[in-house]
Amino acid sequence: MDPRATDAIIGIDLGTTNSCAAIATGDGQVTLIPYRGGDPIVPSVFAIDDKGHELVGHEAKRQWQLNPRNTLYATKRLIGRAPRDEIVETVQRSVQYRIHAGERNDVAVDCHGQAFQAHEIAAKILHKIRDVASDHLGFKVSRAVVTVPAYFTDRQRQAVKEAGRLVDLEVVRIINEPTAAALAYGIGKRLQERILVYDLGGGTFDVSVIEIRDRVFEVKATGGDIFLGGIDFDDAMIRHLLQDFRSRHGIDLAGDPVAMQRIRDLVERTKIDLSSRSEVPFSIPFITMTAQGQPLNLECRFDRATLEQLTRPLVDRTLQIVGGVMVDAGLTATDIDEVMLVGGQTRMPAVQERITRFFGKPPSKGVHPDEAVAIGAALYGWSLQERSDLKLQLLDVIPMAIGIEQAGGDLHVVFPRNAPIPNARAISATTSEAGQTELVVRIFQGDQPETARDELLGEFTFSGVRPGAPGEARLEILFEVSVEGILSMSARDLESGRQMKTTVRVASA
Ligand SMILES: Nc1ncnc2c1ncn2[C@@H]1O[C@H](COP(=O)(O)OP(=O)(O)OP(=O)(O)O)[C@@H](O)[C@H]1O
Ligand SMILES: [Mg+2]
Repeated sequence: MDPRATDAIIGIDLGTTNSCAAIATGDGQVTLIPYRGGDPIVPSVFAIDDKGHELVGHEAKRQWQLNPRNTLYATKRLIGRAPRDEIVETVQRSVQYRIHAGERNDVAVDCHGQAFQAHEIAAKILHKIRDVASDHLGFKVSRAVVTVPAYFTDRQRQAVKEAGRLVDLEVVRIINEPTAAALAYGIGKRLQERILVYDLGGGTFDVSVIEIRDRVFEVKATGGDIFLGGIDFDDAMIRHLLQDFRSRHGIDLAGDPVAMQRIRDLVERTKIDLSSRSEVPFSIPFITMTAQGQPLNLECRFDRATLEQLTRPLVDRTLQIVGGVMVDAGLTATDIDEVMLVGGQTRMPAVQERITRFFGKPPSKGVHPDEAVAIGAALYGWSLQERSDLKLQLLDVIPMAIGIEQAGGDLHVVFPRNAPIPNARAISATTSEAGQTELVVRIFQGDQPETARDELLGEFTFSGVRPGAPGEARLEILFEVSVEGILSMSARDLESGRQMKTTVRVASA
């Protein structure tokens, strides 16, 4: 049967900087979906222009130098996050649009006088990708497998699903980006290998150790940082340029959004050029004016050594995370058969050199760093379709512990980091006050022992507890994490066996 039937499931890599979609057309055959007959990449950028027109992808990116306040990029860093000061401040430092606390314990962004939730921007991008795919394939695409960083929390995953719902795109499955890359590499090769996927994209760093046994893909451990990616490499260069300009001219460009956006644009292109050249001129004419009205240019030569020096702490951090994941997996460097590099930032020679040194061998050239994630998602989408003969078994893990808040604010871990999914665990609970009829449970995800430093997933209220003396009611709370890493909960009264009603107070998306 034609795999392009209209209920086909496409694969979407919803990236921080670039998104990409693909479709499997049968056993192992995958095509990337080109945008207007060309490049398959759709920049993850949304803008509203002066006339109030919404722009997505290339059209939005093309005008970002002129319209920095109303051009939203890297919003994936904000999706499904609580509005903690450090997150808002960190992202605000590297973007020219305004970020603030939203109304649903989330982060909102402003564009052309309108506030958007971060997942609404993801929805705009998904909508664009769906349209591009529908045009290319000749039918309306309605289902997709969408990838997320392995290091995404439950709440971030839910927000991506919600983004799909907003535009009527059924996200049939969320899978982890490094796992998708492993599928792209391993399907159809009858492998028995243990690989490590090092995925350094625009916004996030993920690393997963995955055992491939033919069609079984088993994640042994994962780790990452959703604030570690190409944008941070750009930021390091920008800070250096601003400082240099300030010491030369006494002018701080940081407060000028148009200047900043022009710098960011050229910085990124310069960084990319420095992956293949050792020195690149850097010149932006008329970046600002002196107090006397004299135009000033921003000019210098950027060399690879300077870039490497500025970004060394970032590369160091990725390797620290790799080290931690290897410890979690109980492995040493020689236990890894192949190291896969995924994500555009892994093209930086210094990254490849450091990996080579760490593992004592060069990384594999087995996958395309920009395409592997979308290809893996498409293959997985194909395997989920009834008419498919591709049968895969994906065994993934949760990236951070999930637990409940104890009296005193500490995290009582229900699922430890790297617990396999799907998974279910029950814990017992009781009342602490006489006559109590409600039990409030706050769920957190994170690796910090104090919940104040973890992400709040939700506050659940179980009502209908039988009133009695403190500690008399005996409840069992069941936590289930789905194959997608998404949590659900239920509770029952152990004596009556009665199921209790759950409500979530803190909105998830
Ligand atoms: N040749 C290159 N050398 C260095 N960096 C590069 C090169 N090509 C692309 N990059 C950087 O890679 C990043 C984009 O990578 P990619 O498209 O894999 O990210 P993404 O999938 O959008 O993000 P994420 O996976 O983090 O959500 C950008 O920061 C870009 O500057
Ligand atoms: Mg990516």
